[in-house]
Amino acid sequence: MSPGEIRAPDPAALREAAALLRARQLVAFPTETVYGLGADGLDPAAVAAIFAAKERPADNPLILHIAGADQLDAIAQTIPPAALRLAAAFWPGPLTLVLPRRPVVPPIACGGLDTVAVRVPAHPVALALLREFGGPLAAPSANRSGRPSPTLAAHVAADLGDRVAMILDGGPAIHGLESTVVDCTSAPPRLLRLGALTREAIEAVLGPLATDDPGSAASRSPGLRYRHYAPRARVVIASTWELPRIVTQLRAAGERVAVIVREAEPGPGAATVWRVPDDPEFVGYARELYAALRGLDAGGVGVIIAESVPERGLGRVIMDRLRRAAAR
Ligand code: TXA
Ligand code: MG
Repeated sequence: MSPGEIRAPDPAALREAAALLRARQLVAFPTETVYGLGADGLDPAAVAAIFAAKERPADNPLILHIAGADQLDAIAQTIPPAALRLAAAFWPGPLTLVLPRRPVVPPIACGGLDTVAVRVPAHPVALALLREFGGPLAAPSANRSGRPSPTLAAHVAADLGDRVAMILDGGPAIHGLESTVVDCTSAPPRLLRLGALTREAIEAVLGPLATDDPGSAASRSPGLRYRHYAPRARVVIASTWELPRIVTQLRAAGERVAVIVREAEPGPGAATVWRVPDDPEFVGYARELYAALRGLDAGGVGVIIAESVPERGLGRVIMDRLRRAAAR
């Protein structure tokens, strides 16, 4: 097959994908959070190919995906009780656990750390691929480093089309935000990356989580050191009520303005309007955020003005990603 060909995941495509993975090739696949760029997670050469394709810094570790919690023992040295409770409550699902690494996991997959990040994805295609392959798959989000995570197969093709052997198309990602990363090597467990599973949901099971202060977060979660989720256009965050005025101001300054709005009425100054669904838990905003950033960026606008949301549940995660996208 040709490099980067997009295939709907019928049984033949899954068999072909698993064969490519066994041959140390890269296969992009859908998960319920975002698309992943998969390789044999226990093979250092295959894992190295992920870093090369994404142009990812070597000290930013990857997540190993497994088909079920029963495969955890093979890659984690110890599994603290809190990790077992989280796995029982939320797997398969958008939660990644950081645990002590067994020597079988190659250091290159873990950025040289003595821990390994693991999750069981909830997407049927991801699970079918993991079963067909039969071992852990290392898979970061399938974007070029520094670009928004892909929520469609077409996003993967745009970023990495000539660098992957195959892209499995499972339709739009369900959550549209990456998994939540929790470090279970300390007590209480520590929230390293906000994600599709809300802090509120985790704390309802486990009680209060620790959170890194901004100064030390970088050392614990290497991924947070890098600018992320960023389109080429400048991103400005605006509240519902101030958004129309900011559109008018930037328009008057000669900018080509696009907006991502939920409730706000942007007025006449915006060249492009991306309206996300207005549900009370921000599910629709989360699902469409990265597609909106990519889509508006592709339209060549200079500024994307994004409507802010209240900092609760997924709203907290959306605001985290918007701030990273807005950081220069
Ligand atoms: O939803 C997701 O998590 C997606 C899908 C494909 O599963 N994957 C994903 O991977 O977002 P990636 O590589 O883009 O982000 C992984 C995050 C990074 O912030 C990384 O630093 C952190 O997890 N991480 C991985 N291993 C770690 C470890 N051993 N200790 C601390 N943080 C770790
Ligand atoms: Mg990523």
